[in-house]
Amino acid sequence: HRDLIGIGHLERHEILFLLDEAEQWVTLNRQATKHENLLSGMTVINAFFENSTRTLLSFEIAGKRLGADVVNMHAAQSSVKKGETLIDTAITLNAMRADAIVIRHGSSGATQLIADKVDCPVLNAGDGQHEHPTQALLDALALRHSLRERGEMAEDFTGLTIVICGDILHSRVARSNLLCLQALGATVRLCAPPALVPMGIEAMGAEVFHDFDAALAGADVAMMLRLQTERMSGQFIPSAREYHHLYGLTKKRLGKAAKTALVMHPGPMNRGVEIDSEVADMIDRSIITRQVEMGVAMRMAALDILTRRARGVNGWGEAE
Ligand code: CP
Repeated sequence: HRDLIGIGHLERHEILFLLDEAEQWVTLNRQATKHENLLSGMTVINAFFENSTRTLLSFEIAGKRLGADVVNMHAAQSSVKKGETLIDTAITLNAMRADAIVIRHGSSGATQLIADKVDCPVLNAGDGQHEHPTQALLDALALRHSLRERGEMAEDFTGLTIVICGDILHSRVARSNLLCLQALGATVRLCAPPALVPMGIEAMGAEVFHDFDAALAGADVAMMLRLQTERMSGQFIPSAREYHHLYGLTKKRLGKAAKTALVMHPGPMNRGVEIDSEVADMIDRSIITRQVEMGVAMRMAALDILTRRARGVNGWGEAE
């Protein structure tokens, strides 16, 4: 079975295929919350070992809109709390004959571990500090929509400079976005305090900044990330006030970027820390709500494509 573990496993044409396939669901979702029956009779299990609002709900809505039966397993109420290992949990899920399993887990590599043990496609909904592929895909879809609306979009993101600012060290969203945006031709600048930049990240082709004003200069997009204090151990953690002073996106600071620069945030936001409310809520510049909207369409496309093989349909366009 083919899984969706990370953007690092995808070819550029597969990323574009996923984005193109999501477009139909964007249109349909805007017309009505219409249920298609593509996945009728199939069961999708959402197994979330970490908290989530957007990802869990949008995978659930996506599965239901496609006609699947969707079951959510919350780790807090599961036998994981009684000491069951991840591998035994995977074997248990497999024995229930799910048609797709969506996993969020606090450990990098956990999703691959489960994928290796089960017979159905596995979709990574965020694993530790590794990847969050559907987030990067929905971000690319939201950006593409916004650029097309302005009539600015060419074939891909070539010529765009995108700043990702925040806790890069702990961020699977940053890693997946770096891979996805670069695959689509963008120049990516990463900006964070020195203690929150992963060692050797420059080898992935990103420009690293510690000065947010310098990173923003002339940029087309500012993608803001929160401080993941729950993953920090021993790093220097600036106070919220100090962090906001150095790395918070204020209206004034946004003025350093290109005149029409767009603002993104995967959520959850800490208003007044990494982003000011007056920036997060800017109607003409912030596409944060659009990112959430695109999340449902993107996950519909991912569930559709990954279950095509089981339905006897070609799944990955040219790749099949
Ligand atoms: N962006 C994101 O993954 O949000 P949740 O943690 O709410 O799913």
